[in-house]
Amino acid sequence: MIWVCLPTCLIAQKNSESASPAAIAGSKEDPQAVERGAKAYADNCAGCHGPKARGNVGAPDLVRSLLVLDDEKGILIGPVIRNGRPDAGMPKLNLTEQQISDIVAWLHVQTYAADHRTTYEFLDVLTGDAKKGEVYFNQNCTACHSATGDLKGIGKRYDPFTLQGRWLQPRGGGRGGRGGEAVQTSKRAAITVTVTLGSGQTVSGELVRLDDFNVALRDAAGEYHSYTRSGENPKVEVHDPLKAHTDLLSKYTDPDIHNVTAYLASLK
Ligand code: HEC
Ligand code: HEC
Repeated sequence: MIWVCLPTCLIAQKNSESASPAAIAGSKEDPQAVERGAKAYADNCAGCHGPKARGNVGAPDLVRSLLVLDDEKGILIGPVIRNGRPDAGMPKLNLTEQQISDIVAWLHVQTYAADHRTTYEFLDVLTGDAKKGEVYFNQNCTACHSATGDLKGIGKRYDPFTLQGRWLQPRGGGRGGRGGEAVQTSKRAAITVTVTLGSGQTVSGELVRLDDFNVALRDAAGEYHSYTRSGENPKVEVHDPLKAHTDLLSKYTDPDIHNVTAYLASLK
């Protein structure tokens, strides 16, 4: 392997291994991924963002970065690494998906260790431009939402940070919600599934579990059904009402995020 390592990077390699086992456990990241991530971070990022991701002249603090704090499984961080922001001094880096997810795991441990995931007072959240946020909202969100309907008064219901979490990750992201347990927000957000049995009979309901071998659901009457799967049998169709949110997540830019949050916060 080729080492291109500036002096800061050598220091980083010493320091970046220092994620404590408690922080790793608390953050629920895979310890091996974190260890690999520490090294990949030191090699590729530390020279600019500092050995502990606390920033440097010319490159921002990643531990306090809203984007890093709001990230789930690299959905927000991944695109920044893959595409860079060449105009703003963040290079496009050619890393493997494995390296990216390792670095993401390491970054999550850093934010967890700094306790920003739970205590950060998101002062930056409302720096966006509500007018631009409104334009974005009208283009991307009104198929399902309305500022005078379901989202009326949403700016009163949540503090800005919670609000941002709600629309970025309506299914249980946001404050303290990391770690994989899906928090079902409401009936409207529930993932539903339709199973078509060999006989042609269909059974639909809220998805309870789906893997290669089983599908389980609870029907409208609350009854639990579970079927063994083998390839395409039985046929399983999943409907996720929040898929639009998940799809949009990879498209937002930072200004989009701040502008939309500022707009939503203005809906009193
Ligand atoms: C050559 C210096 C340089 C390197 C190397 C670099 N970055 Fe950056 N990075 C920057 C700069 C400058 C910005 C700010 C860009 C902006 O203002 O939008 C940035 C922004 C970011 C952001 C967005 C932060 C935010 O809040 O918007 C993330 C995340 C990030 N970098 C992660 C990484 C990771 C992870 C690596 C290593 C894989 C890395 N960077 C390597 C210079 C660098
Ligand atoms: C294809 C439909 C669809 C699109 C497009 C969509 N959403 Fe949603 N959104 C939903 C569903 C479904 C929920 C879950 C509602 C619930 O929990 O009752 C939701 C939840 C939300 C919530 C949380 C509401 C609450 O009371 O906690 C916010 C805020 C939100 N969306 C904002 C947005 C914004 C901003 C956009 C555009 C950038 C957007 N949505 C695009 C379907 C969509």
